[in-house]
Amino acid sequence: MMKRIFGVMMCAAIGLSAQAQRMNIIPKPMEIIEKTGEFVIKPSTVVYADAAFREVAGLFSEETGIPVSAKSRQHNAIAIVKAMKGGILDSNTYALSIHENYIEIQASGRAGALYGMQTLRQLMATQPDGNKIPAVTIVDRPRFAYRGMHLDVSRNFFPLSFVKKFIDLMALYKMNTFHWHLTDGAGWRLEIKKYPALTQQAAWRTHGAWTDWQANGRRYLQEGSPNAYGGYYTQQEAKDIVAYAARRGITVIPEIEMPGHSEEVLAVYPHLSCSGLPYKNSEFCLGNDSTFTFLEDVLDEVREIFPSTYIHIGGDEADKKAWKTCPKCQQRIRTEKLKDEEELQSYAVRRMERYLVGHGRKLLGWDEILEGGLAPEATVMSWRGEKGGITAATEGHDVIMTPGGYVYFDSYQADPATEPQAIGGFLPLSKVYSYEPVPAELDATKAKHVLGAQANLWTEYMPTTYQVEYMTFPRMLALAEVVWSPKESRNWDDFKVRLQQHYRLLQKNR
Ligand code: ACM
Repeated sequence: MMKRIFGVMMCAAIGLSAQAQRMNIIPKPMEIIEKTGEFVIKPSTVVYADAAFREVAGLFSEETGIPVSAKSRQHNAIAIVKAMKGGILDSNTYALSIHENYIEIQASGRAGALYGMQTLRQLMATQPDGNKIPAVTIVDRPRFAYRGMHLDVSRNFFPLSFVKKFIDLMALYKMNTFHWHLTDGAGWRLEIKKYPALTQQAAWRTHGAWTDWQANGRRYLQEGSPNAYGGYYTQQEAKDIVAYAARRGITVIPEIEMPGHSEEVLAVYPHLSCSGLPYKNSEFCLGNDSTFTFLEDVLDEVREIFPSTYIHIGGDEADKKAWKTCPKCQQRIRTEKLKDEEELQSYAVRRMERYLVGHGRKLLGWDEILEGGLAPEATVMSWRGEKGGITAATEGHDVIMTPGGYVYFDSYQADPATEPQAIGGFLPLSKVYSYEPVPAELDATKAKHVLGAQANLWTEYMPTTYQVEYMTFPRMLALAEVVWSPKESRNWDDFKVRLQQHYRLLQKNR
């Protein structure tokens, strides 16, 4: 303990500028003790790991080209080792020591070992000479358990190779949850064996550009038709993404939208809408039991692909108008003794929650799931500001903060006159960096319900992977520091200095 306190003081004494030249780690680690000297990576350098971390060493080797050695050694090696008993207890913590003749990452769990490895990769990638790594001791762990990035693949479809690249970059910055927005009005993107029309038609639209499709009647075509734009992931491909992410310490949470944002489903299965007609409603008919059969069938297959505790059911922006005049919905309101259409939505969310909890999962939804009363165990993503999050945490529910004003990466990041078209808003890097996920209104007990924060990438105006990257970086790096680093260590000027080397790193990854 004494040593650590001393270490922090030492670090402060070395000062910002020296640190900036050598230690460009994002998110900023909890404790950094700089030393003199450096470790030099040579062709003979190897990586060695204790049995528990062999697979982490394998990943490090793939990323860096440094070969794995089966034999333990302390000279000219990078060792990833299990922390001694009574040392590091928390599985997310790591200690990284860089000495002149060896490097050691200590952790008690796989997550910690992975984070230590990512810090080392960053140190290598942000030095003037990537083979010379400055001597240092770092002890580090995350502030929040949930550090998320969302990606909408409905408004525009992106290939698996890009999804993997996105996950790689998330991992490099220690983000640990990928929220995959797989379904929405502009296209269904996941193979569901029981309902083939979802991917044979609802995944293919008449116009490639989302704006053109919006302006031309929002229609779908059979897969393979001339001009059909779209795509989907097979179940095997989605499983590959889950495994790819898990190997990098990232959980994939799938989102299957209901009861709104579901035009594409109702175009191909119109009997699930209040009108019974395609291209008329965006919301499922909640008076019709077939709706729940369909949703549960879909989630049966989704559960097989995604082992995440959470399944996201959307829940946002449902237009409740059709329910008001639908005899089946009105009948449901009467038989279930519901007050109104808000409570009808809540009925549907509760029913889905019962299904998910019955299968050992948890329900996650946008903050509209508060309307009409929150399902008993639901977790809320607060996107319309922080109000929903504050209400949910006050009621004892877990919350993930994704407020539009701070973490909607579809907003402009500079003067719109100088930028590619975006949806609106204004979210420069400094504003992302200024975000504090725990609202001042919450006392310490309630603040514990704030699991973390997430940035959302709605892709209406991101037709290419290039544009997704442009909107994501460097803003994701600011968020990474918000959700990982100790609150009191955050410093915009210091972040900006460290960021300079990361521009180079990201450009190399293009
Ligand atoms: C949302 O942005 N509609 C959750």
